[in-house]
Amino acid sequence: MGYKIVKKRVLGPDSKMFVIEAPYVARNAKPGQFIILRVNERGERIPLTVAGSDREKGSVTIIFQEVGKTTKLLGTLEEGDEILDFVGPLGKPTEIENFGTVMTLGGGFGTAVLYPLVKAIKEKGNYVITAIGARTKDLVILEDEMREISDEVYITTDDGSYGRKGFVTEVLADFLKEGRKIDRVFSVGPVPMMKATANVTKPYGVKTIVSLNPIMVDGTGMCGACRVEVGGKTKFACIDGPEFDAHEVNFDLLMKRLGMYREEEKASLERFLEEIKKSGRA
Ligand code: NAD
Ligand code: FES
Repeated sequence: MGYKIVKKRVLGPDSKMFVIEAPYVARNAKPGQFIILRVNERGERIPLTVAGSDREKGSVTIIFQEVGKTTKLLGTLEEGDEILDFVGPLGKPTEIENFGTVMTLGGGFGTAVLYPLVKAIKEKGNYVITAIGARTKDLVILEDEMREISDEVYITTDDGSYGRKGFVTEVLADFLKEGRKIDRVFSVGPVPMMKATANVTKPYGVKTIVSLNPIMVDGTGMCGACRVEVGGKTKFACIDGPEFDAHEVNFDLLMKRLGMYREEEKASLERFLEEIKKSGRA
């Protein structure tokens, strides 16, 4: 018996949202936690953040970007189809208090990971300023949803096709320069963006939390695939994270490790796309 997809929604050119029937995860998941799924017996395991859960209906929302073979395969599934494994909740929940004014930054697809955090931060009574950055207008996701749960929302695009032209971190840098009081920052997105956020907030001493996305295999601290260096010590993102203090993370090492399997991933994706073309599914 697998885990049924009860709802499918297309969010953007390559991003989709699924609502999955998974009562155990729905009952136990907290913001910041993730699941590891496997589409079928031959499939690889991929970690995805729990974007929302409905305890009563026993369903869990996941949002994913079709970047590799597994996420492309996942994207071909339809309502009523089943996923073989859906393990979780994994990782540590986000530490959320009433900090005061919180600035949250979502870079590209990282905005999907940020969304449940923003919701939980707002529910704790914080004043929430959200900035979403994307390369271009079509890639801006969850804008309406973020407007519903944030007190202020800013959009940036690299090409200036929507909102302010530039990187999402520039909004934060300007606020801090102007002397606006920000008590905590949460930043989720590509590693260079999270590194840039840390560099912006460090001189001001504003505590900054990032959600790391290293390669994961078992998700239980056994395989070591997700190791990251934080505060000079080795940590496992799957059990010690995925959230860490940005000022302590060795982003350069993380970037190097993420690039390690790029060639293999590209070859596997090309083989898969060829297979779908032959089968007439695309
Ligand atoms: P992208 O490269 O298009 O960047 C998105 C935005 O991030 C940019 O528009 C910009 O505002 C900001 N940004 C990028 N580089 C920056 C820099 N050097 N300085 C300041 N801001 C910068 O991202 P994308 O392709 O939409 O997102 C995919 C990336 O996000 C992948 O690398 C993926 O691994 C990562 N990701 C991370 C998480 C996580 O949990 N941290 C989750 C999902 C995806
Ligand atoms: Fe294996 Fe974290 S994924 S130790």
